[in-house]
Amino acid sequence: MTDRTPALYGGKPVRESVLGYGSQSITDHEKQAVLEALEGDYITRGPTVEEFETRVADFVGVDHAIATTSGTTALHLAGDAAGFSAGDEVITTPLTFASTAHAATYNDATPVFADIDPYRRTLDPEAVREQVTDDTVGLVPMHYAGHPADIDGLLEVADEHDLTVIWDACHAFGGTWRGEGIGAQRDMAVFSFHPVKNVTTGEGGMVVTDDDNLARRLRRLRSFDMNYDPAGHEDEPWYQVTESVGYNYNVTDLQAALGLAQLDRLSEFKERRDEIIDRYNEAFSGIEGIRTPPVPEESGPMCHLYAVEIGEDFGCDRQEFVQAMHAENIGVQVHYVPLHYHPYFQTEFGYSRGEFPKTEQVYDGLVSLPLHAEMNGGDVGDVITAVTALRSHHRE
Ligand SMILES: Cc1ncc(COP(=O)(O)O)c(C=O)c1O
Repeated sequence: MTDRTPALYGGKPVRESVLGYGSQSITDHEKQAVLEALEGDYITRGPTVEEFETRVADFVGVDHAIATTSGTTALHLAGDAAGFSAGDEVITTPLTFASTAHAATYNDATPVFADIDPYRRTLDPEAVREQVTDDTVGLVPMHYAGHPADIDGLLEVADEHDLTVIWDACHAFGGTWRGEGIGAQRDMAVFSFHPVKNVTTGEGGMVVTDDDNLARRLRRLRSFDMNYDPAGHEDEPWYQVTESVGYNYNVTDLQAALGLAQLDRLSEFKERRDEIIDRYNEAFSGIEGIRTPPVPEESGPMCHLYAVEIGEDFGCDRQEFVQAMHAENIGVQVHYVPLHYHPYFQTEFGYSRGEFPKTEQVYDGLVSLPLHAEMNGGDVGDVITAVTALRSHHRE
């Protein structure tokens, strides 16, 4: 512990420059790869996108990977390919980013929230079971912060009710569950390559699956649902026709080149994130009033976030904790305001506060501390100093 006065109460900030909670890591390796891609024949979707998809599919351990413009558009396509439509109910977690629920809403289906398991902070299979009705067709669990949801328990519920599962693995690229790649579980999984995620393509996403039919549908939907080779028109090479409402969710070879270069550095990223997590765990696990992230034995997560829960014993509440960190120039964030608090889900689907008590209890304490591969030892030390000084100020 330290006797330093926190900046919020008049002390000097622990650092002068702001440390973001997340950041990309770009080196000459990535810059060179993008420059080379710029010299290629394609700067839209071309062979480098295919190479990126193959690398991701091989890494995750699936047959197909379909790159899209974002995690959000990947979820849209996955919901469409799953056949979600008006009148269908799709169960998901309220403790997530809005896009998770949009796998349903973009396709006119209804998102139905179920409460979380407060240990994992992910969908509780039993709570899911209670929400199943005759209209339920799908399940969209999210691997919060990179920690896998209870995959076995959720697949069991999906089997009981014949639900299509789309894993929102936007936080979890690079992790494992019982030794198997996150994303390799049925029916589809979605990754995001936004700059704060585990690897980035600027903006970008990916759907992965072992299902040949889903993969075919996803590829078509990504690109206008265009049939480039319709039967009966073999002698008319220009004859391309759209067969339903498709989208232009094509990524570029420039983004794929960046993604490939990032994949070359994946183990470096994981190692660095793990080192930071180890230092945080060591510093915070003995402090009453801070709950450190879960460590379920089945999983080998690659963590996108380091989210702690600030409890009563800490000495101040989450709001003051966030203000205190910002005063120290430590960029913390809260992931997430539960979806049933959002005006859209309240007005459109009738949700209100108080409906998911475990989610709400976890949310009340949640704060994500900085975690990214560009952080050096001094940055990590600054976070630890700021947190321990705040705790000392209140408790000693
Ligand atoms: C859990 C989750 N799902 C989906 C998304 C959407 O990903 P993207 O920003 O790539 O659209 C995000 C992004 O922040 C996310 O955190």
